[in-house]
Amino acid sequence: MKLWGGRFVKESDELFKNFNRSLSFDYILVKEDIIGSIAWSKALMKSNILTAEEQKKIESALFILLKEIKNNTNQILNSNCEDIHSWVELNLINKIGKLGSKLHTGRSRNDQITTDLKLWCKKKIHILLDNIIELQKNFIVNAESYHNVIMPGYTHLQRAQPITFSYWCLAYIEMLKRDFSRLQDVLKRLNQSPLGSGALSGTGWKINRQELAISMGFDSATNNALDSVSDRDYVVEFLSSASISMMHLSRFSEDLIFFNSGEANFIELSDSITSGSSLMPQKKNPDALELIRSKCGRVYGSLTSILTVLKSLPLAYNKDMQEDKECLFDAVKTWNDCLCIAILILKNIKIKHESCRKAAEEGYSNATEIADYLVKKGVAFREAHKISGQLVLEAISQKKSLNELTLATFKIYNNLIEDDIYQNISLEECLKKRVSQGGVSPCQVYKEIIKEKHRLNVI
Ligand code: ARG
Repeated sequence: MKLWGGRFVKESDELFKNFNRSLSFDYILVKEDIIGSIAWSKALMKSNILTAEEQKKIESALFILLKEIKNNTNQILNSNCEDIHSWVELNLINKIGKLGSKLHTGRSRNDQITTDLKLWCKKKIHILLDNIIELQKNFIVNAESYHNVIMPGYTHLQRAQPITFSYWCLAYIEMLKRDFSRLQDVLKRLNQSPLGSGALSGTGWKINRQELAISMGFDSATNNALDSVSDRDYVVEFLSSASISMMHLSRFSEDLIFFNSGEANFIELSDSITSGSSLMPQKKNPDALELIRSKCGRVYGSLTSILTVLKSLPLAYNKDMQEDKECLFDAVKTWNDCLCIAILILKNIKIKHESCRKAAEEGYSNATEIADYLVKKGVAFREAHKISGQLVLEAISQKKSLNELTLATFKIYNNLIEDDIYQNISLEECLKKRVSQGGVSPCQVYKEIIKEKHRLNVI
């Protein structure tokens, strides 16, 4: 069914019809379109445009339609309607006849589509928020299980200072906390209903838009109809928070891909999320992680796409805006899939204590401690840094770690060094002394774990 045939004398070209059609992707808004339509029918009744009996008929026909499509979206895809709005209207008319064609009174597809899309975003945001929490819970489980696993922390992918696996988990919890609050922000701003904005200048009927907004679960109605039908900020915001979170997930993946490499050998990934090589029998590839790492690019692409579509677009609605959907749908699915896979990865991960510790011991990651030790003995930091560097060079030439150097060797570089140096540069000591807020000391980490467990309600 066409919603706009009257002014035309010639049929649309088939090629154009297909080009113009959005049903193949906006069909996923069917539930939202029906919910919005029911709410609209009630608003029309309150304005005496529909009688109570007419409204009831429309509402129950729409509910039946909702049930029918629940397990069979194919019937939508098989139709040749232009978009989901025409499909719902056609099916309503098929059920209750002419009465169905009263529903579009005072409404435009311009306010309808953005209402549907906002309702869809709200639904998806709640699912994503839940999955972000679930992922954090899985980080906490690992933080607790592996709180005594010492490993090197890296800068420039060079072993820098010792950390614990637990501490690494807590870093990702922080990122996910920011992702969560960004997404809550998106929700807060998009929670205004555009329905009743009409095509661009408001509806000509006496509709209580505030009441209508609340009835659909929005906080309030939007202010300015011209803005309401043109606004896709929420799509941009949603995609930008998806992009930032995907960037975090890609860094998580890259860290684990490296930890899983033959060279690092810090972790073992489960068979259930890895794959083999068709040629090399020994291989167990971290495909799940590599896919998360790469899908980040796809989500960035969606953000770039919507920003480009909206740039310089004149007010109000333009068909360009139909291009907001495929990128949004794809990015939201991708983000959610990646969160779920990340959860799966963490559920089955095993950390190899010994190789983690060995790498921390071997990488001169306690060199800062020698400098700090000398500072405590009265040496200026810059000088202490130099002495420590020279000792690293000495250790390299002797093919030893720093704590394997003899006291006599230490003394060649600075006579203030005493026997207590060994205790001061032990890995445990390096961790223990970093007690200031946010530091890696096990007691700080433990406090953080308890705090996070309370926040996540897993105590
Ligand atoms: N399929 C359209 C979209 O996704 C719906 C709105 C159409 N409005 C219009 N005036 N043609 O944006």
